[in-house]
Amino acid sequence: MPNVLSRGIFNLFFGARRKGLESLPGPQPGIIGTAGDFLGSMPWNVCARYGREYGGVTLIWLGGTPALVLNDPELIAQVLDSRQTEFEKGSLRQELTPTTTEHSIFIAEHRGDWALKRQQDPFVQGWSPDWLAAQVAPMQAAVARAVDALIAKGEKVDLAPVLRRLTFDVFAVAGMGETPPDSVYEDFMLLAKGADARIQAKIPLRFVSLPKGFEQAQERFYRFFEERLTALRKSPKPGAVDLMSWMLREMPGFDDAWLARHVALMFYGGVFSSSTSLVGAFHQLQKHPEAEARLAAEAADFAGGPPTLERLNAARWVEAVTLEALRLLPAVRVFTRSPAAEMKLAGATLPAGTTIMISNQHLHRDPKHWTHPDSFEPTRWLDGGTARDPIGSGHFFPFGRGPRMCVATDFAMVFLRTAVATIAARARVQVQSTEPFEEGFFFGVVLPKDVQTRFVAR
Ligand code: HEM
Repeated sequence: MPNVLSRGIFNLFFGARRKGLESLPGPQPGIIGTAGDFLGSMPWNVCARYGREYGGVTLIWLGGTPALVLNDPELIAQVLDSRQTEFEKGSLRQELTPTTTEHSIFIAEHRGDWALKRQQDPFVQGWSPDWLAAQVAPMQAAVARAVDALIAKGEKVDLAPVLRRLTFDVFAVAGMGETPPDSVYEDFMLLAKGADARIQAKIPLRFVSLPKGFEQAQERFYRFFEERLTALRKSPKPGAVDLMSWMLREMPGFDDAWLARHVALMFYGGVFSSSTSLVGAFHQLQKHPEAEARLAAEAADFAGGPPTLERLNAARWVEAVTLEALRLLPAVRVFTRSPAAEMKLAGATLPAGTTIMISNQHLHRDPKHWTHPDSFEPTRWLDGGTARDPIGSGHFFPFGRGPRMCVATDFAMVFLRTAVATIAARARVQVQSTEPFEEGFFFGVVLPKDVQTRFVAR
């Protein structure tokens, strides 16, 4: 709690701004507001603490500017769903644009061209479910190749970067039917580092320099996909099931640059979040040998037959393990919105532009809703569990909720389940320590640090 002098100074300069917000609970602001709470702590942990201490809505002060942290499912539903048109999505637009491009719906303005972009997105077309069903077999084969290489290497590895590369390669197979050369992955990572430096910058963006070689990497990365697309247009592969081939067949009105960008942007959309989710799952499995043994048995059964979506859907323990990892350790834990004009929310009057932070961490572990909320118990997802807490509901929204929920949720779930089943069928993933891993932050996503692991053949 700031001292009397600090609180007095805050009131002297910013006291008038409290008008209309008096009803909201929150920590006492001092000279820098309440921003000190975020120093040295991950934002999701601060948001979760506010949920425990102040309830569903917390008023905080970023310097003299008010902001809200929401931990109430009803209020979150209003902001992300029923009243979504009154809010703008927290824009990482400036931070991300040198890395991603205008084609990305992630950075599209909610009240601008987002709705049109979403409607055109390749993940939500009439043919998308058929494309997705056709990905289980090639993704299984790609995961198997990557795992076998890790087993053959026999070394201890840091799990997050290793699974990130696996995810990149598997997405490439789903996106364009093959694994690209290392140099494409290196360019991808350099561009991601550029965006990350901007996302995490504590100084104005004009003073943040991009990593050396950024422009060349950017040119090469996007050109790679354009050249693939041009080649494919010249010599289409009959019967090919990758996204690029499917888009060429099904989206005739879109130009090559548009089509190629949408394949390239898949990687930024999901490689970090998906690989972080896999790390969470295998870290928890090491801690829970019965859950791991049950997974190994079901995974072996899945590996023993044709890799169809139908059979993957029948693997209920694989799904339960995946959902439980997404509940306990969601990869994306904070999203932001802001009212486009002055408005009423939670009984208070919010000025236009007020930052609203929404975190899933507290609700995913709310003891009023979940039994043994802090423990990894995949059984909670069996016997009606998925219907009780569907993805995108009040206490379970790892992919966000409402119309701007992750456009690739279905793809991510098929990828994660295929990866969990295939890795578990081929390897014992021996994580060296079951102590909670240190969490960093990269590209807007939680980054598990130094999870030393060995892949041992089953
Ligand atoms: C475990 C994996 C994933 C997680 C946890 C995740 C999480 C999320 C979340 C929380 C949002 C909503 C953010 C907000 O409302 O502000 C979102 C949006 C989005 N995600 Fe994902 N995501 C995952 C995988 C993917 C994949 C694989 C892709 C692409 C291939 C992708 C592409 C997108 C895009 C384009 C949006 C923006 C949608 C829009 O604004 O309409 N995500 N994701």
